[in-house]
Amino acid sequence: MCGIVGYVGPKQASNILVDGLRRMEYRGYDSAGIAIINGNGVKIRKAAGKLSALVEKLKFDTPSGTVGVGHTRWATHGAPTTPNAHPHLDQSGRIAIIHNGIIENAGTIKKALLARGHCFKSETDTEVLAHLIGEYYVDNLEEAVAGALWDVEGAYGIAVVCSEEPNTVVAARHGSPLLVGVGDGEYFVASDASAILEHTRSVVYLDDGEMVVLKRDGYRVRNLTETHLEKPVNQIEWDLATIERGGFAHFMLKEIFEQPESLTNTLRGHLLEEEGTARVRGLNLSDEELKRFDRIVITACGTSWHAGLIGEYIIEELARIPVEVEYASEFRYRNPVLDDRCLVIAISQSGETADTLAAIREGKRRGARTVGLVNVVGSTIAREVDGGLYLRAGPEIGVASTKAFNSQVAALAMVALRMARLRNLSVLHGRELIHALQALPDQIRQILDRAPDVERLAQKYHQASNILYLGRGVNFPVALEGALKLKEISYIHAEGYPAAEMKHGPIALIDQNMPVIFVAPRDAVYSKIVSNVEEVKARKGRVIALVTEGDAEIAKLAEETFPLPKTHDLLTPILASVPLQLLSYYVAVLRGCNVDQPRNLAKSVTVE
Ligand code: F6R
Repeated sequence: MCGIVGYVGPKQASNILVDGLRRMEYRGYDSAGIAIINGNGVKIRKAAGKLSALVEKLKFDTPSGTVGVGHTRWATHGAPTTPNAHPHLDQSGRIAIIHNGIIENAGTIKKALLARGHCFKSETDTEVLAHLIGEYYVDNLEEAVAGALWDVEGAYGIAVVCSEEPNTVVAARHGSPLLVGVGDGEYFVASDASAILEHTRSVVYLDDGEMVVLKRDGYRVRNLTETHLEKPVNQIEWDLATIERGGFAHFMLKEIFEQPESLTNTLRGHLLEEEGTARVRGLNLSDEELKRFDRIVITACGTSWHAGLIGEYIIEELARIPVEVEYASEFRYRNPVLDDRCLVIAISQSGETADTLAAIREGKRRGARTVGLVNVVGSTIAREVDGGLYLRAGPEIGVASTKAFNSQVAALAMVALRMARLRNLSVLHGRELIHALQALPDQIRQILDRAPDVERLAQKYHQASNILYLGRGVNFPVALEGALKLKEISYIHAEGYPAAEMKHGPIALIDQNMPVIFVAPRDAVYSKIVSNVEEVKARKGRVIALVTEGDAEIAKLAEETFPLPKTHDLLTPILASVPLQLLSYYVAVLRGCNVDQPRNLAKSVTVE
């Protein structure tokens, strides 16, 4: 979603801002712009479309100046046009603002401003906020921003500059992430650490309701009532190489290939082989507390929700605790039955997904303990939950989630293992699961070695207009995830179903043109899924099956098979998802799609 970057320092701001925006391109956007202050008014350059359109404009007309703000916009209020692109100016043309989020009472404020003679050039809620700040401005930008923020409702991350104060950037957050980068004689503000990582790894995470004032000689955090707040400076662990493509054609491919390492990092330090359990101290829950929970609600969106569904199977099977998996967007507006014996687990790669954040707030409000399985360190969800495990999968830049998904499943397996060992799971079974977890990185390597086979499958099927994904038990969510991955990056219509459910409807779609991908390892429901394969075959469907290595039975029925190394039944999803990720990737490339930035999608969805 939208990206914010701001700079105050000795260097030319426009280059720093554009580079920062480039680093945030992966988040998804449809226009971009910058505002530079140089003692000569506010210079704004903006363009609809990709950042390259802005860069093209800047080629012959780069405003000089060492203070400025830059933005990539993902349209909410108003179409993705140049007039709607940020930054927006106030009525006087002295104040420029960039904004992530939605100002919910913009309509009412705009009406009042119109009545007072204001004229607007865009359809955005952001321009309304710019005008409001302009009305509050007398001679102090910081106070004008604080004053205006008292009047607005909704979510925002903003950064504001003013031609009258050429050494200042003021930024504020409420519901939309923002951090301060503390450099050597230079200061940054950004919605995403990747925008400033090139310059500094020291960051201050702002909390909701906080503002920051960046000056040439330092920064000061405040809120709407207190003008000085002490905030810790955190060090970002990852470096620039982790957010670059490193020889891969796309971030998505790089991230698929990183999975042996990312999974190793997720598991590192958590597995207690001797005791056959997992160490999950980050949850901030004692064993007594873990034993007390009699119900678990997992809440998440998209791919993370699919990981949650897999977690449901694993936790119920191992720990025998009832689990419900809820779309965060539904959970937050239902009237969920929760109490202090219910554990709410939020799963999120970005840690910023608005619906998931709202769901944990709702969970807390109703007295449940909340924990997060989150990848991005310092993200809002990570900071708001009562405890949690960081996935440690490393930055995920490709919009389609891949390595984070498998790390989420592994983290869920570890939580399940701990809770199960505190109940009835034997130490032997616990160790068996641990050995299977430990074997996964090498097994993924074996699958990745077969990437050319998947590419060949992609060549064969990439012109399909529909693809059906089927699985049973713990592999049913893998079918959902396989279908989501394909549709979001290749735009082929795909559906995931429990294999047996096919005969209740989707079977009508099957003919000689319909590829049907089965996730069919030799597990407890193997014979059942063989019957489902037969049903598809009988209707001339084209069967592609992911099977356990050495399985000859399905090979006789399927047009194509792909072998998966043998693992613990409950961990098959981690292995099976890898060839499905690769398949989506190669199909999308063959169809000429923008793999890392699929249309209309954003990496972290910070609006409802
Ligand atoms: C799909 C995908 C999305 C995200 C969803 C939740 O590939 O990436 O479906 O999984 O938007 O995002 P997080 O995990 O950041 O909360």
